[in-house]
Amino acid sequence: MPTPLDDARVQRELRDIVGPTGVVVDADLTRRYRTDWTGRFSADSAVVVRPGDDDQVAAVVALCGEQGITIVPQGGNTGLVGGSVPLHGELVLSTERLCGIDEVDATVGRITAGAGTPLASVQQAALAAGWRYGVDIASRDSAAIGGTVATNAGGLHVLRHGATRVNLAGVAFVDGTGAVHAMNRATLRDNTGYHLPSLLCGSEGTLGIITSVRVLLVPDHRCRTTALVRFPDPRDAAVAVESVRGTLASAEAAEVFFAPGLELVCRAFSLPRPFAETDGGYVLVEVADADDRTESLAAAVESMSGVADVAVAADTSGRERLWRYRERHTEAISTIGVPHKLDIAVPPGTLAEFVERVPAVIAAVDPHATAWLFGHGGEGAIHVNITGPPVDDDATDDAVLALVTDLGGSISAEHGIGTAKRHWIPRIDSAADRTLRAHIKAAFDPYGIMNPAVLVDPPM
Ligand code: FAD
Ligand code: MLT
Ligand code: ZN
Repeated sequence: MPTPLDDARVQRELRDIVGPTGVVVDADLTRRYRTDWTGRFSADSAVVVRPGDDDQVAAVVALCGEQGITIVPQGGNTGLVGGSVPLHGELVLSTERLCGIDEVDATVGRITAGAGTPLASVQQAALAAGWRYGVDIASRDSAAIGGTVATNAGGLHVLRHGATRVNLAGVAFVDGTGAVHAMNRATLRDNTGYHLPSLLCGSEGTLGIITSVRVLLVPDHRCRTTALVRFPDPRDAAVAVESVRGTLASAEAAEVFFAPGLELVCRAFSLPRPFAETDGGYVLVEVADADDRTESLAAAVESMSGVADVAVAADTSGRERLWRYRERHTEAISTIGVPHKLDIAVPPGTLAEFVERVPAVIAAVDPHATAWLFGHGGEGAIHVNITGPPVDDDATDDAVLALVTDLGGSISAEHGIGTAKRHWIPRIDSAADRTLRAHIKAAFDPYGIMNPAVLVDPPM
């Protein structure tokens, strides 16, 4: 059925706003904007609009409001929950031309950048100024800083620095009516009522388009040591990774993975195995400080039960060699199929039970499915990737999420809800919670055009 976006007049008006090269409709050129990173979520066609400044974003949104055109904002399109692609004929508003570092304040440690700036560029600008950006994720080269704010990205250093919201100082955004809001106060403190940047953070494109981001930086601790620890019993690894938060103040990362994932990574990328024996579970811990904390790291590892092997590195290439066994899980899993991706968290003290029970829960629903477990165990956050089931069969996902909620856990620790987990919102929120979420959305987006298939239910 034709939509207002197919109308030649509407496309002409969009071109008038963003310029002739700012609108992309060619099927080959739009492919990368309409298929998600996993390949699980894909649309047949798309109209992609690439505004070059806030005024153009505002004009595009206003036109969409007049014409009843829905919008999917898109940064680097590395999201893992199907929220960044136009599955229902939405206009894709790409932020890729809103790119560049606008301001680096090396005195206080603060950076302002266009929403389309790659996360890695923000990280590099921070390092060049003698600071570090506290958020790091393996998709750093492609993910845009605006996308990381829209998803409240977590990643590898949440243990020490918190997720994106904690590091966020301000945003500029365009709401669903086309109004521009500059919530980028110059001060380091701001307690002037509702903190709208925090609300935009994690809103997954449902409240407006973030056009610019201001983040606070953390000290660049140069003394870093990484340990990879093997436990023949996977439950010991789960218990050990959870202990790091309480035992090691200088820990910046505490990650966990297991023998099948390690084998897959080694196979996919022809890497040597880290130890002669490889069964069991692995914990990767990194400490960082102004002074060398290797001794504290050694003491923390010594206090862990069930350790069989330890590898330690303090130089950059050695540390990277250890990290690749963890970081390359995502890519390795994608080499064997299109995964179902879950990013759950369980309450402290329950990770070992979850890790032990989840394979049987999946096998009971689909005996041919394979579960891959890895993630940010230091915060009880673990990724359950499932290969085998067809892309549109949610039965195994639902079984895992039911186990998570039974244990009192969260159905999303970092990737968000997107379209993939939206059907779970009525199961985790009360009717009053859902009404409140719908009212918040309506306040920002009264015409209901901002990523309407994502996160928030239609009004009840
Ligand atoms: P997109 O994928 O383009 O969009 C994601 C969502 O945000 C969509 O709903 C979109 O509509 C919305 N959005 C994007 N830009 C804007 C904007 N300017 N204004 C309003 N809404 C917007 N995530 C983690 O949290 N932790 C990890 O450790 C992690 N590791 C990853 C590793 C790999 C290899 C990959 C592929 C992904 C990983 N991710 C991780 C997921 C993903 O990279 C993050 O969710 C990231 O924050 C998405 O940024 P993006 O620019 O690609 O956003
Ligand atoms: C990770 O921690 O590696 C990411 O969140 C990516 C993934 O879940 O695959
Ligand atoms: Zn993760």
